[in-house]
Amino acid sequence: MSAGPNGSGADLDSNDGADIVDPDSYTSGFPHATFRRLRDTDPVSWWEEHDGGKGFWAVTRYDDLLHVSRNVDLFSSAQGITLEEMDPDDFAARRNMLEYDPPEHTRYRRLVSKPFSRREVYAYENGIRLLARTVVEEARDLGERFDYVDRVAKQLPMRMLGRLLGVPDDDGDWLVERGDALLGNFDPDMTDHPLGLTDTDEFKHIPFRSPAALDLYRYAEAQAALRKKQPTDDVISRLLAPTVDGEALTELEFKNFFVLMVSAGNDTSRYSMTAGLKALAEHPDQLAELRDACTAGNAALVESAVEEMLRWGTVTMHFRRTATQDTELGGRKIKRGDKVVIWFSSADYDERQFPEPFHFDIHRTPNEHVAFGRMSPHLCLGAQLARMEIKVLFEELLPRLSDVKLDGPTERLRSNFICGIKRMPVRVTWS
Ligand code: HEM
Repeated sequence: MSAGPNGSGADLDSNDGADIVDPDSYTSGFPHATFRRLRDTDPVSWWEEHDGGKGFWAVTRYDDLLHVSRNVDLFSSAQGITLEEMDPDDFAARRNMLEYDPPEHTRYRRLVSKPFSRREVYAYENGIRLLARTVVEEARDLGERFDYVDRVAKQLPMRMLGRLLGVPDDDGDWLVERGDALLGNFDPDMTDHPLGLTDTDEFKHIPFRSPAALDLYRYAEAQAALRKKQPTDDVISRLLAPTVDGEALTELEFKNFFVLMVSAGNDTSRYSMTAGLKALAEHPDQLAELRDACTAGNAALVESAVEEMLRWGTVTMHFRRTATQDTELGGRKIKRGDKVVIWFSSADYDERQFPEPFHFDIHRTPNEHVAFGRMSPHLCLGAQLARMEIKVLFEELLPRLSDVKLDGPTERLRSNFICGIKRMPVRVTWS
């Protein structure tokens, strides 16, 4: 039995019959044995859905995923990027930028990308560092035992997003709770209306079939109204202001982008930071080496460690595309209109791309993981920001610790979409 990555404890030699559609298949970790079998024997496989969906192709190999990601003419995002299919009218009103193809997507991205550029993100570094220091000091005040997810990994992205958006600090908790309900839409811990466990028919017109989406739309509307009256220099004001050539997001585009930021920019970083600390706790030699690197300011090693944490944790498990014409992939005949689902979490453990993928290695180079996507126009807009947050958190946390141990079982999100540990008790020795 090999200890599985992401703390799955999965036996990679057996247990390879997981139903990859069922959110319960992920509560004890990403089902690596199943995906490894699929990569080896059926790399583009057909799956039926349980909720009346029309079924989909699961693309599990790295190279095939890149083929789908870059061929946007063949594999469109404009009919939705989640497994669930939406009514076309509802979809038109709720589409976010992930759900456009070029050239519409190119325009949209141009209008929102400036605050997320590498240059701008470097300018946030000091602010992020101060927040990280506060979060770590608050954890220290808790003593030796605490829930790392709740007290550390959740705190930094939440506070940072609030500052970035320019909303009151007190609203941060609420925004994150609503974002969690949206992306944790299968998990009874995250929402009162978990899919598959309660009747969610009345919400079928809204994204993720979650009432949290409506709350976030209302909040975005109120924030936009405030900025119109009194513009500031925060990201919301900048998103609403026209560019030099007079172009601007429509109000609907702004609202949909706001919901995307609150959902995509939060739990993803949180769960990556958690997968990272868990891997370090399970590899004490690498923990010690990374702590020394943080103390000595060895930025190159800290950066490669962050990339490995991102690969190891690959939080966004999949996105969907739709075939625009008949084509072939991995020896299978795909029909126009078929749903084609690319599994980032499988590609990041593809033995054809990564030597010894089940070995956590903070020195791994090259490490061309797909945790943020790759070769796609939709490559994560927040990637620089997320990398910065994770790097700064570990730079602030590790030099203050002489040891970390897991202190009880971890609990995982019930989701076939987001791979996340929602509770991770730790026992630390502060130095
Ligand atoms: C570790 C943290 C994160 C992970 C793992 C992650 C993952 C991803 C992935 C896989 C995609 C789609 C890539 C594709 O389809 O090829 C994406 C897109 C996106 N992400 Fe992230 N993300 C993270 C953090 C963030 C943050 C902090 C923000 C913003 C505050 C953000 C905003 C976005 C946006 C707006 C898109 C859509 C881009 C487009 O359609 O052009 N993400 N992210």
